[in-house]
Amino acid sequence: MCRNEPGHSQLEREAVLAQKEQLDDNLFFLTLETADPLPHVEPGQFVMLRTSPALDPLLGRPFAICGLHQSSLELLVAVAGRGTRLLAGLPPGERLSLRGPLGNGFPVQTGRKIHCLAGTTGIAPFLLTGLFEQGFDIHLGLPGIKWKPLADWASGKIPGLHLYSDDGKIGITGNPLMCIDKLDPESDVIWGCGPTGMLKALDRECRKSGIRAWVSLETRMACGIGGCHGCVVRTTGGPRKTCTDGPVFEAREVCWDDI
Ligand SMILES: Cc1cc2nc3c(=O)[nH]c(=O)nc-3n(C[C@H](O)[C@H](O)[C@H](O)COP(=O)(O)OP(=O)(O)OC[C@H]3O[C@@H](n4cnc5c(N)ncnc54)[C@H](O)[C@@H]3O)c2cc1C
Ligand code: FES
Repeated sequence: MCRNEPGHSQLEREAVLAQKEQLDDNLFFLTLETADPLPHVEPGQFVMLRTSPALDPLLGRPFAICGLHQSSLELLVAVAGRGTRLLAGLPPGERLSLRGPLGNGFPVQTGRKIHCLAGTTGIAPFLLTGLFEQGFDIHLGLPGIKWKPLADWASGKIPGLHLYSDDGKIGITGNPLMCIDKLDPESDVIWGCGPTGMLKALDRECRKSGIRAWVSLETRMACGIGGCHGCVVRTTGGPRKTCTDGPVFEAREVCWDDI
């Protein structure tokens, strides 16, 4: 059985919302306690979270795992629509259903320096295992001053975090892609996570500089375990399911025009 597709019953867990830290009106850091601990998790792996045992909302929502401890995991959740609004409104103590860990995670390239480029909540997988302590360079881009709470919070978790904003009010004026020019194709690789537009531009810049890059795609998902074909993306190797073949793909393999 493939690493990404363990028995489904092993993936289902009940969780309790243990803590909810509100970073902003629409941004939450959640700690979920699970009775049985999750196994080792790679940066980029995710869980499908359901807020309710009832039928509505029927489908779980995918979130990157950004912290893992003995009997708890952490998620950074931005309110995007109905499911995330319901999740954000839950009080601590609420029971949730969790499916995961799912997906493949970013591949470590030994002997290469890894530069993590994130847009807004795309920082989540790079918070996971103290990547900064392992010598990874982490860059976070934000659209503007509205995102200052995320910048402050993430800077507290990642010493040396490089910050960028479009309006220059947080960190360097610009975006994390500005670092690509300074990288060496022989010794550097990129991991990217964030909005699709950013990942598309990341691929374009990496092709120009010859830098290899892997990106985590935020495709809409229904099952998270390969059963519904709802998350298929076109790649140079044919159609791939984001939930089980991804969410991490080599950037140059993704057919960006279809996303
Ligand atoms: C592998 C993976 C990891 C993710 N990790 C995180 C994370 O760590 N933190 C976080 O806040 N969000 C993350 N997302 C995005 C998150 O899953 C969506 O924001 C969420 O599913 C929206 O649900 P909703 O019911 O609130 O919104 P809906 O009402 O379903 O949709 C509201 C808006 O969000 C868009 N949307 C819906 N699903 C997605 C999606 N999967 N990706 C991007 N946009 C979407 C819709 O197109 C629509 O514009 C991740 C997505 C994937 C696939
Ligand atoms: S979400 Fe169902 S196959 Fe990927």
